[in-house]
Amino acid sequence: MPKVERCPESCGFALHLPLLIPPQSGLSDPSVRIDIITVLPDLLTSWLGESILQRARSSGLVEVHTHDLRQWSTDKHRRVDDYPFGGGAGMVMQVEPIDRAIAALKAERDYDEVIYMSPDGHLLDQPLVNELSTKGSMIILCGHYKGVDERVREHLITREVSIGDYVLTGGELAAAVLCDAVIRLLPGVIGDETSALTDSFQDGLVAPPAYSRPAEYKGWKVPDVLLSGHQARIDEWRHGQAVERTKQRRPGLLGPESEGSAGK
Ligand code: 6GU
Repeated sequence: MPKVERCPESCGFALHLPLLIPPQSGLSDPSVRIDIITVLPDLLTSWLGESILQRARSSGLVEVHTHDLRQWSTDKHRRVDDYPFGGGAGMVMQVEPIDRAIAALKAERDYDEVIYMSPDGHLLDQPLVNELSTKGSMIILCGHYKGVDERVREHLITREVSIGDYVLTGGELAAAVLCDAVIRLLPGVIGDETSALTDSFQDGLVAPPAYSRPAEYKGWKVPDVLLSGHQARIDEWRHGQAVERTKQRRPGLLGPESEGSAGK
């Protein structure tokens, strides 16, 4: 599987921009493979066909495949869930179809990760996205109902990921969020190769405000410094704005000592 070098600054960001590791260098096979196991494959079809992702797929930078879990059901009605032992509300996704699905995929190739999307998983953040963007291949299992039989989590999964502290009806949209965040970091996927490095969160700060033409609209003016042509002053202004915005909006990103300053 392709291994990608890490940034020596240990920021967690994958050093896999084309400028740094050109595809012809032979250092890595740039393509990444993602297999999503779901009971609702149609939910992901339109997302897979959309602009940047579609381009990334058709230029061979990433392969994303969806698999209907029901094809591995042993039940004549193709069921993949059943009542919980011990009673209680809701259904549980059974271990057998999931085990068969993962085994069928693993029989074709090795996988670096088998990720279970679940509201009680590890909260997805930019460092985790960066780390996952260095993986060559992943299986993503989308949870449904009251979740999966615990033996799936004990024996088949390498990580559990949540996209936030709220509950969705299933893991599909969460899987799409994870894949989107990972795929846009892959070499060649977004046009401006430096822009992933200047994202909000990559340096622990939210992004500074951005403006485009016209310089004045309805009397609403762009800050003079951005029109000044002094790059050093512009950079300094942007950094100051990013720090100020982070203090105001996301003080947690600046460390525990800044937590108290929100909204001041
Ligand atoms: Cl990964 N799944 C579900 N069902 N709900 C969620 C989630 C995942 N992340 C946040 N809410």
